[in-house]
Amino acid sequence: MPTLLPAELERWQSVESVIKGILSAYAFKEIRTPLLERTELFQRTIGEQTDVVSKEMYSFLDRKDQSLSLRPEATAGVVRAGIEHGLFYNQTQKLWSMGPMYRYERPQKGRYRQFHQVNMEAFGFEGPSIDAELILLTSRIWKKLGVDSIQLELNSLGTPESRKAYRSILVEYFKDHMDTLDEDSLLRLEKNPMRILDSKNPEMSELNHAAPKMSDHLDQESQDHFSGLLERLNNHGIDYVLNPRLVRGLDYYTKTVFEWTTDKLGSQATVCGGGRYDGLVKQLGGHDIFAIGCAIGFERLVELVELSNKKDQNGQPKIYFVAVGDNAEAKSSELAELIRDQFEDCIIEINHSGGSFKQQFKRADRSESDIALILGDEEIQNETIGIKVMKQGGEQETISMAKLLEGIAERIDTKN
Ligand code: HAM
Repeated sequence: MPTLLPAELERWQSVESVIKGILSAYAFKEIRTPLLERTELFQRTIGEQTDVVSKEMYSFLDRKDQSLSLRPEATAGVVRAGIEHGLFYNQTQKLWSMGPMYRYERPQKGRYRQFHQVNMEAFGFEGPSIDAELILLTSRIWKKLGVDSIQLELNSLGTPESRKAYRSILVEYFKDHMDTLDEDSLLRLEKNPMRILDSKNPEMSELNHAAPKMSDHLDQESQDHFSGLLERLNNHGIDYVLNPRLVRGLDYYTKTVFEWTTDKLGSQATVCGGGRYDGLVKQLGGHDIFAIGCAIGFERLVELVELSNKKDQNGQPKIYFVAVGDNAEAKSSELAELIRDQFEDCIIEINHSGGSFKQQFKRADRSESDIALILGDEEIQNETIGIKVMKQGGEQETISMAKLLEGIAERIDTKN
């Protein structure tokens, strides 16, 4: 269970504030539920046969011998709280929460026993437009944080009826190949056969690839819902990959399931996962209400944000041109073209909007450039130019304009 130190928390807080802004722009409201719930709640929602419930919960008896567990995820608690406080009665709800979750997993990079999720749930919306909205919302978070190498994987698990029919077909198929099943899959065969499809064992991959696909066994209602979602994503230009083996590790899902994955974080590649769970509220004693949600793994997202932004910084050098006065402005464009000829992958931003040196330096700071070039009347007259390495807090130096390209080359070299 990692301790979060001040330097790391600063990064966390900036990611958090971006996410909170976007959640509020999509009309999600915050809810905070306890870290502890009755163990039974998780057994009934996540499912007793899942790894999360059967192997990974921190459970204990309290002083009255009631079994309680630290929450391994947030959905169950939000549903429980919503039923208890009448939030699902004749109304829709869009709720988000954030906080620590606990799973007794084997710790490794990107996988911890205490980790944090940003969790969002929408209740009371039947059609696929809310599915699309959740995906658009998460996609907007990645964009705003500068995360690029992230991919959306989608599947439909169908209505409970079509899923049940598919389950039997799948059990038949695996029973015909008993000799190829590994130990884990043999255990899952009776209790949770769809999870066999999710196996990470390379020796199981051929068998899993050839297995019957849920998408070929969806009933009409599930097919219509899924194609409605795909159509909306296409209209919004959201790329996705259909993954028939995406089944998710929790039992409550129906119809749409999705994950955002990246190839940047090694084996812990899923940054966000979720889907519909239309029957769950009723199953726990509440109204029969539609529901969908997802959760972002915060540690993984923060790591990915760092990696993505590092790439930008180390890849293309950036120069900001501070130019005060008409002559300096004209000269700055001329010099920028020369620099572009010489350093093709360099990003050069010219001030273009007037202002004093002080104002322009502020803009240069905000642009997060590596180097600032400074031109005013004095420099033009003396045929010199000011140059400053921004990120290492360097001093401004004055060099001859004729030596500008060399001056830039030297400073880009020290940066790398
Ligand atoms: P989940 O896929 O179990 O879904 O977890 C969501 C995300 O939490 C994962 O994609 C991952 O980024 C992060 N995560 C999970 N376990 C760990 C760990 N041990 N260490 C670090 N990060 C981890 C759920 O929990 C569902 N409740 C999501 C949901 C909400 N579905 C509907 N509504």
